[in-house]
Amino acid sequence: MSKKPAKTVPFVRNSKRREGAIPLVMVTAYDAPSARAASEADVDLILVGDSVAMVVLGYDDTLQVTIDDMVHHTAAVARAKPNVVIVGDMPWMSFHVSIDESVRNAAKLVKAGAHCVKLEGGLKRIPVIEAILDAEIPVMGHIGLTPQSSNVMGGFRVQGQDVQAALEMIDEAKELEQAGCFALVLEGIPDRLGKAITDSINIPTIGIGAGADTDGQVLVYHDVIGLENRFKPKFVRRYGTAFEDQTLALTKYAQDVRKGAFPGPDEMYPTKDELNEALGLYGKQ
Ligand code: KIV
Repeated sequence: MSKKPAKTVPFVRNSKRREGAIPLVMVTAYDAPSARAASEADVDLILVGDSVAMVVLGYDDTLQVTIDDMVHHTAAVARAKPNVVIVGDMPWMSFHVSIDESVRNAAKLVKAGAHCVKLEGGLKRIPVIEAILDAEIPVMGHIGLTPQSSNVMGGFRVQGQDVQAALEMIDEAKELEQAGCFALVLEGIPDRLGKAITDSINIPTIGIGAGADTDGQVLVYHDVIGLENRFKPKFVRRYGTAFEDQTLALTKYAQDVRKGAFPGPDEMYPTKDELNEALGLYGKQ
């Protein structure tokens, strides 16, 4: 039986479907139990995404999380020691002010346990990407619908829909490959453009709402398990009913407490006879 390759950045870098690789599986995770579950499920990469802002911390967009928030969640994921590549997501304003600060922020994620970092943006981010790579930190790019640019884009809108924008995006992908990114997330673009970008570069593409022809797929953990049940973007497939399951469990717990059915005899520490006798006096007072 052939041994599965270790899940490392070079393994991801070499996972091009047209060269026979199996599609890459990436999922977000933000804490130790979700990292354990993702590892048990044998995913290839965990993205500690800035989507934590929306699905865990209750914000309306991803702009509110800081590098310290991302370090906190990356460390929680890493403590579970998942057998995956851990990708630390660089939040808004952690790589926009100066190159030095950006490299230091990328290093914070690595010190917290990430094996590489991801950052959103195209051509104008190349100097920062090169500086982070220079510090021996692998970088995953992210183009298309980049949520950190939602104010510029006028919301969470599908990108690359007209010919010029699509062609520019293909060029952008090539430049990011040239700059040294080991993989690219393609988010919220027409399926045919997802394929064209994937065919145009030699590093793997990981799609979210980018069609079926990318070299891998990524989804948000809470969408996959159905813990996020308020809004379902078109590209999401729910594989579980976690919100309903946990609400049902909590409802049953509350009912049992209220009717005196919890805790039961097996859920208590037994009282020794001598103590039982002594304490019996108290009940009589
Ligand atoms: O933060 C995130 O979850 C992401 C994915 C949508 C790729 O960046």
